[in-house]
Amino acid sequence: MRRVITYGTFDLLHYGHINLLKRAKEYGDYLVVGLSTDEFNMQKKNKKCYFDYEKRKQLLEAIRYVDLVIPENNWEQKERDIKLYQIDDFVIGDDWQSKFDYLEDTTDAKVHYLPRTPRISITKILGDLKGN
Ligand code: CTP
Repeated sequence: MRRVITYGTFDLLHYGHINLLKRAKEYGDYLVVGLSTDEFNMQKKNKKCYFDYEKRKQLLEAIRYVDLVIPENNWEQKERDIKLYQIDDFVIGDDWQSKFDYLEDTTDAKVHYLPRTPRISITKILGDLKGN
């Protein structure tokens, strides 16, 4: 069985997120999502989540491509997660291009950056709604 991992906040879930999860799952048979905790998201993006961790987790767990949701608490845990869950492929959007290349040196996982789905983001949704 090939195991895949991705990380993110997945707040206010939209089709750009679903598209990323679908393509991530296509790399293997079992998809683990490292879901940023509210505290880590604040540290990462300096932005409060609209849905708290438990609600975001519940939404992700209802998606057919997702097999397991684990908390992402810090930047350093990725190597440990990859070893613990015996991950073969690390997948993330290309807004992170080259940022996680080091994982190919420190783990056995392959790193893949997927093109983001164009013209959709929370910022865009909020901006469009405000304009109406
Ligand atoms: N993603 C994507 N296409 C988009 C938006 C997000 O492929 N249009 C991907 C990101 O690259 C990341 C994952 O979805 O791998 C989760 O993104 P997330 O951390 O939740 O946040 P953002 O990238 O900031 O996206 P948004 O503001 O839309 O939540």
